[in-house]
Amino acid sequence: MSGDPIPAAALPLAARAPGKCILFGEHAVVHGRPELVLAIDLPVQVGIRAAPVGRLNGDPDASTTNPYYRTALERLWPGGAPLEIRVNSRVPRAAGLGSSAAFSAAIAAGLSAARGGVARTELAERAFAIERGAQGVGSPGDTAAAVGGGYLSLNGPGGDTVFQFAEGDRSWTARRIPDPSWSWVVAYSGLPRSTADAVRAVGRRLAEPDGPSLLEEFQRVAEEGIAAVQGEDRAAVGRCLDANHALLGKVGVSHPRLEALLAAARESMVGGKLTGAGAGGSVVVLPLPGRELEAARRMARAGGLPFVVRPEPRGASLVSAPPDEQVVEPP
Ligand code: MEV
Repeated sequence: MSGDPIPAAALPLAARAPGKCILFGEHAVVHGRPELVLAIDLPVQVGIRAAPVGRLNGDPDASTTNPYYRTALERLWPGGAPLEIRVNSRVPRAAGLGSSAAFSAAIAAGLSAARGGVARTELAERAFAIERGAQGVGSPGDTAAAVGGGYLSLNGPGGDTVFQFAEGDRSWTARRIPDPSWSWVVAYSGLPRSTADAVRAVGRRLAEPDGPSLLEEFQRVAEEGIAAVQGEDRAAVGRCLDANHALLGKVGVSHPRLEALLAAARESMVGGKLTGAGAGGSVVVLPLPGRELEAARRMARAGGLPFVVRPEPRGASLVSAPPDEQVVEPP
């Protein structure tokens, strides 16, 4: 079961997709190892309408300057009439919280709806192709979460297969993990970073002689962490989050600002780690039961921008109200 298709819809229309945080296995997943990714309730929404001149948020030059937008139009709107596209996002940009994957999934859902609708498995491939085409490196984990919603394990233990991806000699199978009904707290350090640069730097680090044994460790921790989420074992999840963070430090993508956020939250959390590409970006922590606001306050006092987040189970979807009538909550 990979979810409902995106139906056909006439312009104007609006589509949205959730941001994400990675609980285990970022970077290692690029090399085919397991990851657990969670779609979170911070959405990116795109409104699409026909217009005399093509624009993205009012910018007529975006098709040359924004590679995600350009790739989406090239792949999913070839020869189409000009479009006015407006984006509203609650996901901070370049923060490790999946803003580019959510944008890729939302614009792919909207353009696909305007061209007759699409099955969700095909939408996952389209969103990955947009992000991969724009970014040049990476795994399909972020876009799978933006399209599929909820908790997804890539190349790890799990239930039903939701999506499958292949690229060269690598392949990824995304499986559903049930929601243990926990709140998480993510906090952005305020330091934007480039996913592509971080992925390339970690790739070079993993090419050193101890790279294979580090990848084995990433795999062991991710498998144990995924099993702990499946077993709703908070203490074990906390230990695996901390262990995964230590490994990410070893491959060079932690940062003093991330360490400061985790240290600030320590008393109120079961465990925590950087999330996403690192080298800046964000952290995710599993709070002690009922202490999510305290964890958020502690990280805000340490200079972070915190969000208490819950899973977004649906993934990418069309927004039913006509675009002009939507109220978008301010961040
Ligand atoms: C970025 O959110 C996660 C990375 O593993 C890159 C990727 O999987 O594409 C660092």
